[in-house]
Amino acid sequence: MDLFNDLVIPVGSSHLTLIRLMLYISASFLFAYTGLLFGSVLLSSKAASKAKKDNDFRYQKLAQSLIKVGTGITGMWFGLGIVPFLSFILGYPQLLSGTEGDILGFLIVGLLVFSMAVASIYIYKNSLNFKSLFYSFKTNVRSKSESIVGEYTPLDEDVENTGAFTGIWGIILLIVATWFLAGATTYAYDHSLWGQSIFNMLFGLNTIFKMLLILTMGTAFASAVYMFNAFSWQGGYEFVNDEERELSKNFVRKMGLYSALLIPLIYAFQIVTIPNNALSGLMFVFGLISLLFVVFFAQSIYLSKSEDHTSGVKYGFMFIMISFAMFAAQDQQAFHISVAENLNSISEIHEKADEARHASYAKSEVEPVVDAQAIYDTRCIACHKFDVKLVGPAYNNVVPKYEGKEGDLVKFILNPSPQNPAEFPAGMPAQGLTPAEGKAMAKWLMGKVLGGGEEKAEPVAEKPTEEATAAKH
Ligand code: HEC
Repeated sequence: MDLFNDLVIPVGSSHLTLIRLMLYISASFLFAYTGLLFGSVLLSSKAASKAKKDNDFRYQKLAQSLIKVGTGITGMWFGLGIVPFLSFILGYPQLLSGTEGDILGFLIVGLLVFSMAVASIYIYKNSLNFKSLFYSFKTNVRSKSESIVGEYTPLDEDVENTGAFTGIWGIILLIVATWFLAGATTYAYDHSLWGQSIFNMLFGLNTIFKMLLILTMGTAFASAVYMFNAFSWQGGYEFVNDEERELSKNFVRKMGLYSALLIPLIYAFQIVTIPNNALSGLMFVFGLISLLFVVFFAQSIYLSKSEDHTSGVKYGFMFIMISFAMFAAQDQQAFHISVAENLNSISEIHEKADEARHASYAKSEVEPVVDAQAIYDTRCIACHKFDVKLVGPAYNNVVPKYEGKEGDLVKFILNPSPQNPAEFPAGMPAQGLTPAEGKAMAKWLMGKVLGGGEEKAEPVAEKPTEEATAAKH
């Protein structure tokens, strides 16, 4: 993807900080939302298959509420999924520009698969709605006539199968999208993967553990959001009876607990497999905080068994969000450490380009800064000294006569006219200076020879610095 590499503009350090911030926010949203969506569709299809197996409509209802966890807010797939994915696509290549790290392809594949997963999940969601409608319709009809029910059975099966099918596809596609997401973010900080094949990236241990971590944390997240919706937010859902309430709670709570038990193990493997070039103390701190909040989450889910503590699930929901934010911070910190050198070189390139641009502005618009000493050193020194006569007169002898008439001196320097033809019959050849240079030379000469006069304030102050710079050359 060299084409895209060329499009990347080197940016300054302040912009780099901004891009890093954007990547961090995007990572938080993307990890959390991908996980949440996965947990939502996983739990929902588990509930749906239980509904089918036990022929229990209450699980059907539960499946519907569970899929709403990841899809309930209009456009959340776009704002929390597609937009951060696009920010990754814009941000990562900028920070990796000039390196071997070619991340763009992985991110694009990830985005495509993610979009397909979202499409299947929404089809699945609609099929669930339809199924519920159909089910209640059938129940109503059944109470009137058994024979009509028979006619609808094939249709029933069709609906059933579409639902299960798109649900499974949603799960598979989302796993693949998460895999690419985990792979690309790992690839960004694991330099040993650069220039290697895509399989090294996908089957690297850190990639796999990171993917599993996003999925399990997401399942925990989905169960927390369901518990929050069902039992805390605005008094919770209205269940038909306490039995249904218990059944729903136990189902989701169990899944939340299982994933909470798995997370620390996967987390440990994930951290251990981060490559050495990306390790830093801060990264471990973020990882530990993240893990700590998973423990808090597990605690609040565990306690929710008792009715008295059910409202505690709202904390569980917040804990897991914090945990995700810290996980994203850990990931971005690893990335930052591993590319720190590259970031420096990118901002250096930028700053040089910036300086060049400023210099060219200065020449064209603003009064240029002329180094009079340098002009003397290159263009006058052959014929002039201050105290000795060479081809031309000693400055100390001729410049004083221009005291108070700097304008005349400027005129002479720009366009020399014969002054002392007796001593210097050839005169002084024009030196081809610009008006600004002529002016600066005159000022400088007056300052040097007269040691002040009307120009005292400036040249005297400039003198030492000019000599200092000349001494350096
Ligand atoms: C090729 C030799 C040569 C170079 C190079 C040269 N000068 Fe001269 N300069 C002369 C000569 C010869 C005179 C005497 C001219 C005269 O008296 O008519 C002179 C005279 C002067 C005078 C005295 C004018 C006066 O009123 O008596 C100044 C001031 C001066 N030069 C400045 C400069 C500066 C500034 C530069 C460099 C940008 C420069 N010169 C480069 C040969 C040179």
